[in-house]
Amino acid sequence: MRINQIKLAIIGVGYVGLPIALKFGQVFDTLGFDIDKFKIKNLKNKQDINKEFTKKEFIKSKKLLFSDKLQDLKDRNVFIVCIPTPINKKKEPDLDLIYSSCKIICKVLKPKDLIIFESTFYPGLTEEVLIPFIEKNSQINNAKEKNKPNKHFYIGYSPERINPGDKKHNIENINKIISSNNKYALSLMKKIYSKIINAQLIEVSSIKVAEAAKVIENTQRDINIALINEFSQIFKQLKIDTEEVLKAAESKWNFLKFKPGFVGGHCIGVDPYYLSHKSLQSGYKPKILLTGRKINDQMPLRVFNEIIALSKIKKINLYKSNLLIIGATFKENVSDTRNSKVFDLIKLFKKYHANIYIYDPHIKYLNLKNLKLINNLKSNYYDVIVYAVDHKIFKKIKSSKIKEISKDNSIIYDLKYALDKKIVDLRL
Ligand SMILES: NC(=O)c1ccc[n+]([C@@H]2O[C@H](COP(=O)([O-])OP(=O)(O)OC[C@H]3O[C@@H](n4cnc5c(N)ncnc54)[C@H](O)[C@@H]3O)[C@@H](O)[C@H]2O)c1
Repeated sequence: MRINQIKLAIIGVGYVGLPIALKFGQVFDTLGFDIDKFKIKNLKNKQDINKEFTKKEFIKSKKLLFSDKLQDLKDRNVFIVCIPTPINKKKEPDLDLIYSSCKIICKVLKPKDLIIFESTFYPGLTEEVLIPFIEKNSQINNAKEKNKPNKHFYIGYSPERINPGDKKHNIENINKIISSNNKYALSLMKKIYSKIINAQLIEVSSIKVAEAAKVIENTQRDINIALINEFSQIFKQLKIDTEEVLKAAESKWNFLKFKPGFVGGHCIGVDPYYLSHKSLQSGYKPKILLTGRKINDQMPLRVFNEIIALSKIKKINLYKSNLLIIGATFKENVSDTRNSKVFDLIKLFKKYHANIYIYDPHIKYLNLKNLKLINNLKSNYYDVIVYAVDHKIFKKIKSSKIKEISKDNSIIYDLKYALDKKIVDLRL
């Protein structure tokens, strides 16, 4: 395939797929494909419902179109798959969306086409599960080194590392891992990605290495945060200020800078389960991975228990009280609320029939009963305030304002070390 013959399709234009589509759309004939009709309608109007990109960025992508129609995929010859890889209720990989996207590709796949997966996988998912699935559904075989390419399709895996909300690290400047089970496919991937990436392209020897590398990046973060969460529990028992301990320890060059807190979203809190699933299949029961997950998942309960304990000491009746959550997305500076642990904390207050107010200008809409998304904060009104997400836009909120909106006898919990210590009752 010559570089000027490439017709790209980005399958799934969400947090990962859209920036890729926008970037490739500056260089190649690119189609952003998604089954979400509402999303596609907005994207056609140059509107990103996730609020990550402005119209300006769409205008720069002159070769990019969007569609939810299968027939528009027919002339595509490179498919880049950016589909979610969540877990199910049993905390095992839920591959339904990946399978359904592969079925769509199979309907239009031709010999010589290249499929590149960018979603986060466990080691072996591409080669042991998806290649056979695609071969069966498309009736075309995957190209092994000695096969004649005109009868086979190619496969590649290149995990995505972008970090929504982070303006410093972007597609152009993040080193990108590329892998394939076929030399020609790998060289084609190199040509394609080098058109949009200024950073290093890191070729690894197998797809499994690339899959494993991605899944451990997020798992390492999860474990590190779990460790800091555990430190903060220990220091609370010992009545030592965790923030001060961390600052002191961080003065050593090789102490890793992590803060305690909630781990939500659909990557860091999910990917360790992908790795542990594969590890269990291989006969090894991971220990640290799942312990880290447990510690991080229990953080909302820990925060809740601390609030309850203090309410008893301060004689604050939490029944029908006013609870204010400042920041409810799963992390700073994004609008994404998926798997935000703030909602786990809120659920724990259910039995108190508390009035729950959420103040988060990043969130435009919340489809949850019994929650009030507010734009204005009331003076002397809240019994409990949890400062949960440290968005940049909150930097303007002064501690004095937090004090002003809380009742005289109230609880202020700062999960982010963002407020003045003097006005705060609880911190991690
Ligand atoms: N969001 C991140 O920060 C991030 C970073 C790196 C890697 N990842 C990984 O990238 C993958 C995608 O994550 P995301 O955050 O972009 O998800 P997302 O939910 O934001 O976007 C996925 C898109 O795929 C669409 N989709 C679902 N099924 C489809 C199908 N059959 N055909 C076409 N479109 C379909 C959805 O409508 C959605 O628009 C996941 O594996 C994730 O772990 C995410």
